[in-house]
Amino acid sequence: MRTKILQLLRERPSQPVSGQELADKLGITRTAVWKHIQNLKKMGYVIEAHTKKGYIFVSAPDKLLPEEIGQHLHTRFVGRHICYQDTVTSTNEVLKKLAYTGAEDGTLCVAEEQTGGKGRLSRGWFSPYGKGLWFSVLLKPSFLPQEAPKMTLLAAVAVVRAIRECCGVEAMIKWPNDVLLDGRKMVGILTEMSAEFGHINYLVVGIGINVCVPREMVPENLRDSAVSIADVAGHPIDRAALLGRVLDCMEEYYGTALREGFAPIFDKWREYSTTLGRMVKVISPDKTYIGTAVDIDPEGALLVRREDGSIERVLAGDVSIRPAHGTGKYQ
Ligand code: BTN
Repeated sequence: MRTKILQLLRERPSQPVSGQELADKLGITRTAVWKHIQNLKKMGYVIEAHTKKGYIFVSAPDKLLPEEIGQHLHTRFVGRHICYQDTVTSTNEVLKKLAYTGAEDGTLCVAEEQTGGKGRLSRGWFSPYGKGLWFSVLLKPSFLPQEAPKMTLLAAVAVVRAIRECCGVEAMIKWPNDVLLDGRKMVGILTEMSAEFGHINYLVVGIGINVCVPREMVPENLRDSAVSIADVAGHPIDRAALLGRVLDCMEEYYGTALREGFAPIFDKWREYSTTLGRMVKVISPDKTYIGTAVDIDPEGALLVRREDGSIERVLAGDVSIRPAHGTGKYQ
């Protein structure tokens, strides 16, 4: 009901909509309308009440409320159930618990702040209040567990497209799924899986996007390697609109992958890659070497040509890129 009231008010910006009109359109009493308006105000919406004229929508809070995300969403199932919380330890952890109790395919968990945000390789993820998009999506794909790592590449492609379209900055992907801007990390993706032999119970795709984390807030050890979209875009970013776009793109690419496999997604990945064609340093569990990143294979592994012409297939490990200009230090 709240969503519908907001929609009706937003349809007529700066014009009053009477309580009676809202009540008639929604099939409720004027008192019920008034109560909903009071609740919306408590949530941070600014709505003016003009005697004998009606209500005017003034502004929405800068919060990732389901009502805000919903107005930017065009999906069939991704993000159609939303668990929104102010503060959580980790949206991945919350969503895994919800999955265990039967949450629907496509459920979104999103928070303003994470106190124990998780990164890859047991690292943390800095997630300050209201400064980014910290969210996780629950998916129950029909493909085999060995395909699951490809979902992380798919998520990276979706995020890059959404950021480019919504924010006008040239985000790029560093293999396998770091999203960079000007060579610094702006997005991290952590996919977790519950599976049995030959069957995925669910995937939790967790995504952290630094939208407007002030540089001085970033822990010192990350300051030179991390970046926020707003640092580069130079204008404020509507977080709810960006999140809606990411979810739209995710659902589209996920549908493609289920129907046609991951090849079309990998073509997009190649288009957005900052790794291919560059000199890279690979630190894998058993060896460290330098070579040129030439392609990804159908499994999403990075193919690196070494100086002697041999091709190494990198499935796991840390890959750093030699900058085109500068000190020659790998980043
Ligand atoms: C990485 O190390 O690059 C992955 C970082 C993933 C961070 C996101 S933020 C939302 C979701 N919840 C978590 O605890 N982690 C992921």
